[in-house]
Amino acid sequence: GLRKKEVNILCLGLDNSGKTTIINQLKPANTQAQEIVPTIGFNIEKFKSSSLSFTVFDMSGQSRYRNLWEHYYKESQAIIFVIDSGDKLRMVVAKEELDTLLSHQDIRSRRMPVLFFANKTDLQDAMSSVKVSQLLCLENIKDKPWHICASNAIKGEGLQEGVDWLQGRLS
Ligand code: GTP
Ligand code: MG
Repeated sequence: GLRKKEVNILCLGLDNSGKTTIINQLKPANTQAQEIVPTIGFNIEKFKSSSLSFTVFDMSGQSRYRNLWEHYYKESQAIIFVIDSGDKLRMVVAKEELDTLLSHQDIRSRRMPVLFFANKTDLQDAMSSVKVSQLLCLENIKDKPWHICASNAIKGEGLQEGVDWLQGRLS
């Protein structure tokens, strides 16, 4: 059959935002982990969409591992950035990490797509994706295509919309 185009994706965001849970949902059912544990360093995962074959670097968001992120910027064609919509206290930390990412020399000059998941929409006091995008000042991103999706990674809601958007930007 037709070979799918291969793309490398970097999955970033603070610890506990739901990165590994999201990636796990996107994997074929027979390869999904039953239990998600905090990522140590990073894991490499694969999943496919209708026209693309994704290799995802699922990075740890713990502060002690965030210095690993930049080593994978050059070889990535897109970024998935995950936010815990219920974590109001750390939204400013998420913004700091996003700003650092976007101003990095290996990211700054490139028109690479950035997909945001405002995750954990099921939480009682979750902020809307509009509120999250305001707090992160996403409208200031002028040099890259970006998109934000509200998601519930436990149920898998909102994830396909995001993957469809990424596929459209990368095909
Ligand atoms: P690190 O690997 O430490 O960077 O964390 P991570 O971003 O990979 O988060 P992970 O996927 O391990 O999820 C952290 C916790 O959040 C787990 O207990 C998940 O079950 C939970 N979680 C993930 N997505 C959702 C969601 O949409 N809603 C709710 N309520 N919980 C979620
Ligand atoms: Mg993880």
